Amino acid sequence: MARRKIIAGNWKMNKTPTEAKALVEMLAPLVKSDEVDVVYCVPAIDIVPVVEAVKGTNVEIGAENISDKDSGAFTGEISGAMIKDAGCKYVIIGHSERRDYYKEDDAFLNRKVHKAFQYDLIPILCCGESLEQREAGVTLDWIRLQLKSDLIGITAEQAATMVIAYEPIWAIGTGKVATTEQAQEVCHAIRELIAEIYDADTAEKIRIQYGGSVSASSAPELFAQPDIDGGLVGGASLKADFGKIVNYK
Ligand code: 13P
Repeated sequence: MARRKIIAGNWKMNKTPTEAKALVEMLAPLVKSDEVDVVYCVPAIDIVPVVEAVKGTNVEIGAENISDKDSGAFTGEISGAMIKDAGCKYVIIGHSERRDYYKEDDAFLNRKVHKAFQYDLIPILCCGESLEQREAGVTLDWIRLQLKSDLIGITAEQAATMVIAYEPIWAIGTGKVATTEQAQEVCHAIRELIAEIYDADTAEKIRIQYGGSVSASSAPELFAQPDIDGGLVGGASLKADFGKIVNYK
């Protein structure tokens, strides 16, 4: 069975609740699709108004982060229960901006992946190498280490429902998109790794996105690759271009 493509916007720290509502309304006619899953991952404070604004449409909502704790004295954190109750289906875990700026390490991210499943949320687990790592030839070793660590204790049944986003750090927000060959090579290696950790069936089911300066012009070729099941889109998800990316064919 062919995997269904999943095209997700990562709004990052953009859009107030008022602006978020306006963006959803602007995008509504442009992102209609029967063929792909469409997701907006939005700032925590935008979740409630955006869930309301997409009601009755094909768009699903995701959070950009989740606490590794259930509840209690953790000022400023957002729990899985809150995200789920607010209407999210997905949650981004381990984006390179959180790994880098907020020092989230793999042991911590592994706990977050477990929390997502505890609250019936689908993780969009991010991985990716820096420019230095690519130039040193350790890209695949690095990504194997990230994913093997982040997936400790996750079952094959859980993994089969997950989304993995391959985002080379040097391609994020730089306008410097990976070549189709580079993106396919790593996404293929990730699928092989999933087969190695779990089995061929799980590897066949898991969805792997490419992220990093995806645009209306680069999307068609990227998404045509056999191991690229869609994209995690930053900057272009805040513009009308996102409609073109969703309807890339
Ligand atoms: P850009 O599409 O802005 O490069 O961001 C990619 C990204 O980080 C998505 O999570």
